[in-house]
Amino acid sequence: MFNDKIVYQVFPKTFYDAKNTGAGQLAGVTAKLDYLKELGIDYIWISPFFKSDFVDGGYDVIDYYQIDPSMGDEKELANLIKEADNKGMKIIMDMVLNHTSTKSAWFQAALKGDKYYQDFYFFKKPVNNQPPTNWLSKFGGSAWEYVEKLDMYYLHVFSKEQADLNWANPEVQKEILKVLNYWIAKGAGGFRFDVCNLYGKPEVFEDSINSDGREFYTDSEINEKYFEIINKLALKKASEPLLTVGELSSTSKEKAANYAQEDYSQLSMIFNFHHLKVDFKNNQKWNLCDVDFKKFKDLLIEWQLYFQERKSGHTLFLNNHDQPRAISRFGNDNKYWKESAKMLAALVQLMKGTVFIYQGEEIGMTNYPFESLDDFIDSESVGQIKALIKAGNSEDLTLKIMKQKSRDHSRTAMQWSGKTNAGFNQGQKLDKILLNPNYKTINVVSQKNDSDSILKFYQDLIKLRKNNLEIIDGVIRFLQTSDEIIAYERILESSKITVVANISVKEVNFKTDLKSEKIILNNYTDFNQKLKPYQVVVFKESY
Ligand code: GLC
Repeated sequence: MFNDKIVYQVFPKTFYDAKNTGAGQLAGVTAKLDYLKELGIDYIWISPFFKSDFVDGGYDVIDYYQIDPSMGDEKELANLIKEADNKGMKIIMDMVLNHTSTKSAWFQAALKGDKYYQDFYFFKKPVNNQPPTNWLSKFGGSAWEYVEKLDMYYLHVFSKEQADLNWANPEVQKEILKVLNYWIAKGAGGFRFDVCNLYGKPEVFEDSINSDGREFYTDSEINEKYFEIINKLALKKASEPLLTVGELSSTSKEKAANYAQEDYSQLSMIFNFHHLKVDFKNNQKWNLCDVDFKKFKDLLIEWQLYFQERKSGHTLFLNNHDQPRAISRFGNDNKYWKESAKMLAALVQLMKGTVFIYQGEEIGMTNYPFESLDDFIDSESVGQIKALIKAGNSEDLTLKIMKQKSRDHSRTAMQWSGKTNAGFNQGQKLDKILLNPNYKTINVVSQKNDSDSILKFYQDLIKLRKNNLEIIDGVIRFLQTSDEIIAYERILESSKITVVANISVKEVNFKTDLKSEKIILNNYTDFNQKLKPYQVVVFKESY
């Protein structure tokens, strides 16, 4: 239902500071609606703007009903929803329902000894003076935090400021349904559900033998039931179908496809990260490792074909607020900056699914040139630096790892122009936000004036999707090629679109019967049985 739609993700703190406060806010999104409209966007997913201490970038929600004062207020949100609606766009809210901030009223009541609210979380007695299990937090250290006053531990799969909610408790479900219905009534056009395959925790807590404990709470059987409940009792009540996307942590393709089946009994689509974990060593993120392009290609193909077979809703993306910039990771942010940005965009966007663009990728924003460990801001990065040093890594190696893996790269100020602070605001000092010095050359204004820009290419790509049903509804079929090339066809009735992308920096041969006259998109000016570095060519034929 949503394969014709384009979603644009905004990380509101770093998108646009319309109030010149030093950090972005909702009014900043409203101010840029025309820009998004011109790009061709249908849905704007905004990372959390609810009341928060921003220990984890807003993913530590204190109150699901309140807008954080740094982000605006309810009137400004209503205005944003209305203005977006006037321009034919909808707002997707980011719901963090696996955990709440430990500052939330529920958790605070639990801390005071209120049994009703203790049942909203996982409070457990120590076992032999130790945490209840040996599980590790995804942000480093134990997943259990001790509360002396209660002589109990509580579970936090992420930071200790993010306490996991007990979804098995019907009272928790009731509260969550209330929250969702509240925002549906306020005009939400959809929801992104944060780490939503971790909702179902086990009844019995046991030690993990050789992992961090994720096998006990990832994709548990009950999880699908929870989605059915929120769908039936909240989502389906909306006057128009809502776009719902589930962020899945360490899932499998079978489970992932179950959540996003064609009958929409659970979610409309899912976000998985297998194709991005191709620069992990032994499935571990925090080490130096080159991208395995063969694996990248194989995973893209495997998931596309599987989701097609299962008729499940998939998403097409290479960037988000948790990832380093894709162009620096899978492309070439130096000599082939423009070519590789365009190739990566065409490569994924013409596949089957719903397109997700992350702020700044449409102008080819790159990784930040970190020079010191002191420059990292994000709590995950800061936590991992400590963990890496503690594990005996040198500062030099730690810096190299962080330069490759930190999510701070995607949280730098959006580069609107070559003026002060990249036009992110009127010159107010940035509040814990990095600005990439390359903003003088990489920015929206300069690309708007350039008919060959990355921005223009993104606009063309989006138009191509909107105007060609093959890309929306067509079958996808991959062609046998050498490892440097990913080639696929999108076929609908008697029409066929063929995408051929060179994902390498080398020139490679590509012998084909496809005729140059049939080219509808190309990031170089020609094509002659050879693909130049990072070249992508798209053909359309009828037969
Ligand atoms: C998701 C978010 C990430 C956050 C985590 C915990 O993965 O995308 O930013 O840190 O969940 O809420």
